[in-house]
Amino acid sequence: METRLHRKVLILFAHPALQHSRVNRKLIAGLDRLEGITFHDLYENYPDFYIDVEREQELLSEHEVIVFHHPLYWYSIPAILKEWQDLVLEHGWAYGHEGRALQNKVLFNTITTGGPERAYAADGYNHYTLRQLLAPIEQTAWLCRMTYLPPFAVHGTHLMQPELIDEYRQQYQRILKAFTRGELEVEQAAGLERLNDILVGTQKGASDVR
Ligand SMILES: Cc1cc2nc3c(=O)[nH]c(=O)nc-3n(C[C@H](O)[C@H](O)[C@H](O)COP(=O)(O)O)c2cc1C
Repeated sequence: METRLHRKVLILFAHPALQHSRVNRKLIAGLDRLEGITFHDLYENYPDFYIDVEREQELLSEHEVIVFHHPLYWYSIPAILKEWQDLVLEHGWAYGHEGRALQNKVLFNTITTGGPERAYAADGYNHYTLRQLLAPIEQTAWLCRMTYLPPFAVHGTHLMQPELIDEYRQQYQRILKAFTRGELEVEQAAGLERLNDILVGTQKGASDVR
């Protein structure tokens, strides 16, 4: 597979209480104005949870990188994203013998967590790494013949200072732009624990990533 392609990015954003958000509200600022990126707010579009499956499948077909962007809720995704998965990823379309609509597309999560990074480890109080907790999504990607990448993670949101949130916002935008400009090596990214680490060693932002 060609790993450096100009790819259109679809961000499926799910936050049920954006009015109370401190971190995600800032992370998404300006995303709708970036070239090659479609920002799609699921709770805003479907406040009653009646998801337009045809429209969602069309959106998926028009993009090569799919991002599930959400806060971590009970070690998982917010409810609307699960509903979206249950309805949109249809047999014969997304998976199964004939289901090849998502083949070779890239999928990853952008996740904020209240818990600190050290809690997401075998010896931390959450016992599992974030990537391990995302196993159902990774397996879903595999079943849909997609390429799964590790999450872009923002840990320790409760006490996070505005300057650090802004740094993460910039990192996130750099990664998204790298996809649209064909500057991101997908195979290299797949082996990482966090997508954040793809910026380490690049010219821009090498020092400010960790
Ligand atoms: C219902 C609910 C469940 C949550 N579950 C977790 C969790 O499992 N692990 C965690 O680290 N933080 C958890 N949190 C904290 C959120 O992840 C955190 O508040 C959010 O990432 C902050 O982003 P925001 O400022 O955009 O809301 C939970 C918060 C809520 C409201």
